[in-house]
Amino acid sequence: MKQQEFKRYLVTSALPYANGPIHIGHLAGVYIPADIYVRYLRLCGREVCFVGGSDEHGVPITIRARQQGVTPQDIVDKYHFQIRESFSRLGISFDVYSRTSSKIHYKTASDFFRHLYDNEKLLEKETEQFYDPETQTFLADRYIVGTCPHCSYSDAYGDQCEKCGSTLSPDELINPRSSISGSVPEKRMTKHWYLPLDAYEPWLRKWILEGHKEWKSNVYGQCKSWLDNGLQPRAVSRDLDWGVPVPVEGAQGKVLYVWFDAPIGYISNTIELFPDSWEKWWKDKNTKMVHFIGKDNIVFHCIVFPAMLKAHGGYILPDNVPANEFLNLEGDKISTSRNWAVWLHEYLNELPGKEDVLRYTLCSTMPETKDNDFTWKDFQARNNNELVAILGNFVNRAVVLTHKYFNGLVPAAGIPTDYDQEVMRSVPGIASALEDNLEHYRFREALKEAMNLARLGNKYLADTEPWKVAKTDMERVATILNFSLQLCARLTVALDPFLPFTTIKLRNILNMPQALSWQDLARETLLPGGHRLNEPVLLFDKIDDATIETQMAKLKKTEPVKKDVAPALPECSFADFEKMDIRVATVLQSERVPKTDKLLKLTIDTGLDQRVIVSGIAQYYTPEDMVGKQICILANLAPRTIRGIVSQGMILMAKEPGGNMRLISPLEGISDGAVVG
Ligand code: 2FM
Ligand code: ZN
Repeated sequence: MKQQEFKRYLVTSALPYANGPIHIGHLAGVYIPADIYVRYLRLCGREVCFVGGSDEHGVPITIRARQQGVTPQDIVDKYHFQIRESFSRLGISFDVYSRTSSKIHYKTASDFFRHLYDNEKLLEKETEQFYDPETQTFLADRYIVGTCPHCSYSDAYGDQCEKCGSTLSPDELINPRSSISGSVPEKRMTKHWYLPLDAYEPWLRKWILEGHKEWKSNVYGQCKSWLDNGLQPRAVSRDLDWGVPVPVEGAQGKVLYVWFDAPIGYISNTIELFPDSWEKWWKDKNTKMVHFIGKDNIVFHCIVFPAMLKAHGGYILPDNVPANEFLNLEGDKISTSRNWAVWLHEYLNELPGKEDVLRYTLCSTMPETKDNDFTWKDFQARNNNELVAILGNFVNRAVVLTHKYFNGLVPAAGIPTDYDQEVMRSVPGIASALEDNLEHYRFREALKEAMNLARLGNKYLADTEPWKVAKTDMERVATILNFSLQLCARLTVALDPFLPFTTIKLRNILNMPQALSWQDLARETLLPGGHRLNEPVLLFDKIDDATIETQMAKLKKTEPVKKDVAPALPECSFADFEKMDIRVATVLQSERVPKTDKLLKLTIDTGLDQRVIVSGIAQYYTPEDMVGKQICILANLAPRTIRGIVSQGMILMAKEPGGNMRLISPLEGISDGAVVG
C-alpha cells in the first residue's frame, strides 16, 4: 500500500506527571498504542525516534511535596525512576525517556520562550491574582480552596470541585482561603506573558479544519469546538517557585507555565538523544511527527503547542494526534485519589511473565473511539480463550506434531489442495488489512487481524486433522505442517508490535535467531524445508479464578469511599490539628438572618465569652430547634462579616452524602468551654 513518503517518524507520547505511578488508563490511552505504532514502523525498516519522559513541573507536584514535607525534587526523583523502570519492564520501547527537570530541558525551554519574547510574539499583561498575605506568595488556583457554588462542598479547589466535578475559577468560590496558610487571599497585581492564541485562530482553522479532516473524529471535533468558541490569549508564565524560571529581567519568582514547558520537553529529549542531529527530527518537512495522548491533552497538542511552534518558526507540526478516550476500571472511573486503579508496577510484580497478556487486553479494549472498560474477568477470558486457546494452541499443535512426525524438521510441502490454496490466498488480505489499520492508528482492529492469522491456522489444523491423516498419508501431513509452520513464522512479524515478549519466545521455538521484517509477511516461504525447530514450550498459561479473585479483592479493599462520599483529604500533621481551638458551647439565642433562606444568627456561650456566629443551617434547623442545644464550635476561626454581622467562629456540622447537614452535639451535658481534641 502506498503511504505518503516521509523520510523519518518522530513519535511522541504524553510526558506523564512524575507525581504518581502509571496505571492501566495511561497505558491503554497512550503508551500501548504509541509502542505498537513505533514497533511496526521499525519492523518496516523506517527511521523512528520514540520520545518519552517525565513531566516534572506543575502545581500538583508542589502540593504533594508540601503535604509530605519533602521537596518537589524528592517527589519527581521517586516517580521518574519508578515510571521509567515499569515502562521498560512492559516493553515500551522509548528511544529516549528523560525528564523536564534536566539541564538540557531548562535551556531548551528557556531559549524557546526567549525567542518568542525577543521576536515580540508574547503579550505582557498585568492582572489581578490571588495572593496569600501570610506566606507572601501568589496562589495558583489549586492552592485556593473554598465552598463550591454548585454543590456546597467546602473544600473545592480554585480550578475544580472534586466533589461535583465542576470546573471553577477561584472567583467563584464562596469563602476562599489559602490552602497553604488558611488565610483569606487578597487580590494583587502581577505581570505575566501571554501567547495570543486568538491571533493564530485563522491559521489554526485552516491547518486543522481544512487540512486535517483525516484526524480522528474525537480529536477533530474537540479542535473544532475550541476554535468555534473563539481562542483567547493564554498565560504562559506563573507565580511559582518550581519550574523553569522566566528568562526575562524583572521576572523573579515567575516560572514557565507547565503546559508551556512540557511539550518543549519532546524537543529537549530529542536533543538529549541526538545532540548533533536533533534538528532533522524537528525542522525537516520530511519528518512525520505523531503525538500519542489522552483526550484531556487534545487542546494542548492540537492548538497550543502548534501555535507555539508556529510563533517560533522553523519547526514542523504534528501530522496526526491520535488521541484516545478514557479507560474505566470495573465500570468506574479510574481514580488516583480513591486508589481505584491497576498500577503497572504492582501488576508487573504480582503477575510476572504476563506482560503481553496486559498489552493484549489493553489493546483489545483500547478506548479508541469512546470510553471503554477494563475488567479482570475480561482479562482472564482474553488470556484463556484467545491467547491460550487460539494463538498458543495453534503454535503448540504445529510444533508438537512436527516433532512427533518429522523429528522437529520443517517438512517440505507437497502439492497444495484447493482448500490449502484457498486458506493461503486469504493471508495477503489479512496482512494488508493489518497494515492499513496500523497505518491509520486503528490498533484494536489491527490486533484482530493479526490474531486472524492464528485463527486461520487453528481452523486449518482442525479442518485438515493431520493427526488422523498421519495414519495413511504422511506426504499430506508434511504439506499441512509446512503450511502451518509458515503461518507460525508469519506470526512472529504480525504479532511483534503487540506482543513483543511472545514473539521472542515464538522465534526461539521456531529457531529463528534473526527477526524478520514487515516485508517478509508477503513471502510464501519463511521457513525452508529441513529447518530445525527447537523444543516447544507453551506461549501462554491459563489464568485461574483464584488469581483473578485476588486482584478483584485487592480492588475492593482499596475502595473505601462510596461514590457520593466526599473524597478523603490529604494527610495533615498533628501540629495542623492542634491549631484548631474546638470547644463545647451552648446556644443562648437563635434567629433568622433577615432576607436569607439559609442563615441563622446564633448567640452562644463558649465558656470563654458570649459571641455571635452566623451559620448556614437554616435549611436543616429552625431557630427554635437550636436554643438550648450544646454544640461544638471552631472558636479561633478568624472573624468574618456575613450580611453585616460579624461571625466569630464556626459550628461543627457533619455533611452527609447527599449534602444534608447535621449538628455535632455532645451526648451528655458538658461544661461550656470544654476543649474538644
Ligand atoms: O496530562 C498529563 O499527564 C501531562 N503531564 C501531559 C503532558 S504531555 C506533554 F506536553 F508533555
Ligand atoms: Zn461542587
